[in-house]
Amino acid sequence: MCGIVGYVGGERCVGVLMEGLRHLEYRGYDSAGLALTLPGDEANGYHGTLDFVKRVGQLKNLAGALEETNGRLSGVKAGVGHTRWATHGRPSETNAHPHTSGEGEAAVAVVHNGIIENHAELRAGLEARGHAFVSETDTEVIAHLLAEGVGRGESLREALAETVGHLHGSFAVAAVCAAEPDTIAAARHQSPLVVGLGEGENYVASTVQALLGNTHEFLVVENGEIAVLTGGSVELSTLEGEPVEREPFEVEWDAEAVELGGYESYMLKEIHEQPAALGATLSGRLRPDGSVDLSEVDELLSGVERVVMVACGTAYHAGLVAKHAIESLARVPVEVVVASEYRYADPIGDGNTLVVPISQSGETSDTLAAVEAARGFGGRVLAVTNTQGSLITREADAVLLTKAGPEIGVAATKTFLAQLAVLELLALGLARTRESLPEEHLLGLGHELRRMPERVQETLELLGSEAGNAAIAAAVKVFEGARCSLFLGRGPSHPVALEGALKLKEISYLPSEGYPAGEMKHGPIALVDEYCPVVALLGEGVYREKTISNVEETVARGARVVAVAREGDSEARRMAAATLPLPESLAGMPEVLSPIVRTVPLQLLAYHVARDRGLDVDKPRNLAKSVTVE
Ligand code: F6R
Repeated sequence: MCGIVGYVGGERCVGVLMEGLRHLEYRGYDSAGLALTLPGDEANGYHGTLDFVKRVGQLKNLAGALEETNGRLSGVKAGVGHTRWATHGRPSETNAHPHTSGEGEAAVAVVHNGIIENHAELRAGLEARGHAFVSETDTEVIAHLLAEGVGRGESLREALAETVGHLHGSFAVAAVCAAEPDTIAAARHQSPLVVGLGEGENYVASTVQALLGNTHEFLVVENGEIAVLTGGSVELSTLEGEPVEREPFEVEWDAEAVELGGYESYMLKEIHEQPAALGATLSGRLRPDGSVDLSEVDELLSGVERVVMVACGTAYHAGLVAKHAIESLARVPVEVVVASEYRYADPIGDGNTLVVPISQSGETSDTLAAVEAARGFGGRVLAVTNTQGSLITREADAVLLTKAGPEIGVAATKTFLAQLAVLELLALGLARTRESLPEEHLLGLGHELRRMPERVQETLELLGSEAGNAAIAAAVKVFEGARCSLFLGRGPSHPVALEGALKLKEISYLPSEGYPAGEMKHGPIALVDEYCPVVALLGEGVYREKTISNVEETVARGARVVAVAREGDSEARRMAAATLPLPESLAGMPEVLSPIVRTVPLQLLAYHVARDRGLDVDKPRNLAKSVTVE
């Protein structure tokens, strides 16, 4: 939620900041803005000046405003930028960051991601000392506190250290001031912040994605530290001013990974990257004989008596799929809890409880707080995340990294499939450790898991074929005029139904709910009529016949059904108004692995329904990709 970026060094400043914001826009798009330092001259005693450009709405509005500055900003060598997801104060130019305070040499500007919980109290104190507030934001207090320090003659570093000492809540901030036009100071508490290292130029940003076109070398900034950047140096220190030494880390993602690469949206691109995401995530963790190599986390798995998955949204659905896999294969009880509930639940556990926070971003504040809650009872923490160096990787005892590459589309797609892959590996690893299944059975499942990239590829090709396109078009037609929809599945297809419903509601704004098919008669069936399409995951084996009966009951009440079933499934075709086909070659695929494949048609269904409604699938309203506030 909100993205911040800073640059200091050469004359590429505005370009680097805008490029950074473009890659951070998934974090919020209510407004965007830049604060730039202009070098001083003899006339003003050689201190710099600050200039600002801000616009409400998407980044393109800010880009348009920059074009009208007619070269006023050329020669700028340092600045900070922000893209906003509004928390305090509606989206407006006044509430847009950067926020500023002070005059002349003491002028400061700040960008902020997070929430300052004690802002009202700080604001009252500042107003009493004569500061006039112009915005409704919590952030503005930071600007005024900073300006007070700089006005007293403190350096930007000193003023920021002192300011940070007054703040309660979560924040990543980056600041510039007129007195030191070639410097950026940044700090964080709970919200993410990285420093990017360059040659004669340095960067700061909410995440590495913002900077991949410029550098692959990064430094983490920890809670309670200040980073001071100039073109030629980066200094980390504690708030008290003690220098901190830290090794940089290298990020493997390449810059193209954050570009559209010819696709009309990131979501569509990311759906098609799923075979590669699965391949990279499984690679090195499954031997050719089908055995699992989880040496990276082995130690943590021995003696585990209970597993708790904590996560939000799509990642929570991955946890539900994992519950089914771990319980059926490893016979360990698994609880899956929404992280925002777990954190306040005073959870029960002990040292043999394996707590698995699942988070694509590794930044979700509720998931991080859930980890803290698990620490309270001494749980072992194994994080599943897609983001190297993210906050969660530093809070966990061990990490299973999904290797899906950066995900920009707000709706999670490829990272969900990569989470499923890693969690299926975990289920197999636990089953091996506990000897809960015969070796050949485990090796057989390992072989099947190795085939998943290929199976997802086949599924995408089928759905992208002429027949697949016609099937999707027919399914989209079923949704024309719909006022709600239901997604049904049993067993491992139940979380897939939940995920399908979430994808559809978040990008098409159509109320959609997922249910275990057997629950229909206990309430939801009252919704069913011709304007409430039912999406049915028929499943195989024990689940199939029961699901079909439940779906028939909805058809009898006028529902129009979209079935997800194998191409040659005549029973599905008979019942359904449209069938999203899965390859016939999936016959015999173990049901426990099926969510990896069955999710794919639902992602495409959501995508095409939203496009049919003319909506921006990459930037759905009211959402931000990283939820770094409670
Ligand atoms: C839905 C979606 C969200 C996230 C959730 C958790 O498409 O993306 O529901 O899954 O906000 O985010 P992470 O995984 O970053 O913790």
